[in-house]
Amino acid sequence: MTQRVVVYKNLPEDLLAQLKARFEITEVDSVDSDGPFAAAMAQADGVIGGGLSLPSAVLDRASKLRTVATVSAGFDQFDVADLTRRGILLSNTPAALTETVADTVLMLMLMTARRGAELAEYVKAGQWQGSVGPDCYSSDVHGKTLGIVGMGRIGLAVGRRAKHGFGMNVRYHNRSQHPAAEEALQAKWLPLDDLLRECDFVCVLLPLSAETEKRFSMREFALMQKHAFFINAGRGRVVDEAALIAALQNGQIAGAGLDVFENEPLDVASPLLKLPQVVALPHVGSATHQTRYDMAASAVSNLIDALEGRLPEFMVNP
Ligand code: DGY
Repeated sequence: MTQRVVVYKNLPEDLLAQLKARFEITEVDSVDSDGPFAAAMAQADGVIGGGLSLPSAVLDRASKLRTVATVSAGFDQFDVADLTRRGILLSNTPAALTETVADTVLMLMLMTARRGAELAEYVKAGQWQGSVGPDCYSSDVHGKTLGIVGMGRIGLAVGRRAKHGFGMNVRYHNRSQHPAAEEALQAKWLPLDDLLRECDFVCVLLPLSAETEKRFSMREFALMQKHAFFINAGRGRVVDEAALIAALQNGQIAGAGLDVFENEPLDVASPLLKLPQVVALPHVGSATHQTRYDMAASAVSNLIDALEGRLPEFMVNP
């Protein structure tokens, strides 16, 4: 019997065609607990999508469901233990976005330290009247010390750019040491407090978990240097956002480049948006045409493997 797959939000046409050639497809563009999504899920063998969530009321009815293929590296929106208990295989797309997210991190570093957005606005607003003075000066990136918190695939790609492109010194903090980063980048592992005290840029690439939630709070910002910049391209909730806002308002740190927030989309009334030393992006770390395509392709291949009885390349369940 043909297996059924729910496609949540759009997939590129050619990838959708691959799925249509194998499975019966239902396309949906919103999650609900008792509407068309829940009804489709009740019949589904698999589901694929980015930004997908699975309320337990939906899972309770989805008795045939065998696999969830998320079009993302992060999977904090899922209760992995619960999916595993239900015998549902969860896969993700961690390899497809590495280089693009690393580019985004460098963009955030350059935009905050060199005041890219602010100075571009200055020109657009007609404020550029002659040669610039100290009010337009900014901070160097090259030659500075970068601390990466969460040294994985993306951290290594950021470190490569920083070390080889900008001559930066790389420090990192991780649960375990990362021999490849130490060898390729001469990166030095530091306890978190030492990294915060020592670095000119602190770049957070942590996934969200019970262990990492609010890992950066008042205490951590107080340890950073006043001229240092805080960059977050991992997950917003690893930061206590109120503490970050206070640290920025009090001049405890020099600025922040943020692609992720405690609540997304960021409320337009957020004090972060009133601070010129903050660069806020709408969670676009991996959002280029090519990388979003590659992520979708990776998820499609994970889904097909799982439904055809092979282990997907990127499986989340332990
Ligand atoms: C990811 O893949 O986890 C990115 O944050 C996009 O959601």
